[in-house]
Amino acid sequence: MSRIAYVNGRYLPHARASVHVEDRGYQFADGVYEVIWVSGRRLVDGALHFRRLARSLAELEIRMPMAERALEAVLAETVRRNRVSDGIVYLQVTRGEARRDHPFPAESRPSLVVTAKSAQPPASALLERGVKVITLPDIRWTRCDIKSVSLLPNVLAKQRAREAGAFEAWQVDGAGFVTEGGSTNAWIIDAEGTLITRPAENAILNGITRLRLIRLAEEHGIRVEERAFTVEEAKRAREAFATSTTAFVMPVVEIDETPIGNGRPGSLSLDLRRLYERFARGTITEDATAA
Ligand code: PDD
Repeated sequence: MSRIAYVNGRYLPHARASVHVEDRGYQFADGVYEVIWVSGRRLVDGALHFRRLARSLAELEIRMPMAERALEAVLAETVRRNRVSDGIVYLQVTRGEARRDHPFPAESRPSLVVTAKSAQPPASALLERGVKVITLPDIRWTRCDIKSVSLLPNVLAKQRAREAGAFEAWQVDGAGFVTEGGSTNAWIIDAEGTLITRPAENAILNGITRLRLIRLAEEHGIRVEERAFTVEEAKRAREAFATSTTAFVMPVVEIDETPIGNGRPGSLSLDLRRLYERFARGTITEDATAA
């Protein structure tokens, strides 16, 4: 079946879906995006993704391309036309088309692109083994809280990870504290079983999976501490893992070739993984108030 993409009001064959060469997303990376997991045709934590989208747009003074209800309908229709039951829906909003000039154009209509594709959560073999991460300096700007399409440092970080045979690169700030991965949030678990993850300030993207997992953990009596941790602390941690919309909860078993715990996925990480999977499948009721 051929894929369909939504571009500025039209549903087009994916191969012919395009925006103008003077779209500011293309010229300046002047735009934002969201990746939302689809489970049984339903958006997982859609309300939280919409809230983050609205915030990213507001921070960049880009208008919402349409009312939230209309946007929901476009996402649902794109999911339907691509016959996605489980997978991801991607949406990107840019400041739109304008003659190339750095400041905002006086007039521009935001561009909206939506695509959807079938996908499965990471294979269980990967979960049984766990993944490796490398660390490298965080070379990004100071507004990583905005989910901008300007992802070059993240692209470079993920490429370095791939070359090292690792799943992820944990980026490290000037003071030696881990910020986050190239496309995932970073977590460790201390000897007391407390989850530790960096607070949602400008140095990280406030992941929706991160927000949801904090809520789920607390509901299950697991302590969560939102504070920064160093690479050294992470290497001594009992367990470590990464979270994102596509990775869910991914156990980390090695950081820069130092095994974490006994070098196998930690039991609490795997419990959290199961908890999150149940939530994503809709077995635990969605609560849009988590934030
Ligand atoms: N990445 N940090 C960064 C830098 C990210 O790009 C992402 C998501 C996350 C996790 O956020 P969430 O839980 O909302 O997916 C953290 C998406 C999946 C991507 O770029 O493909």
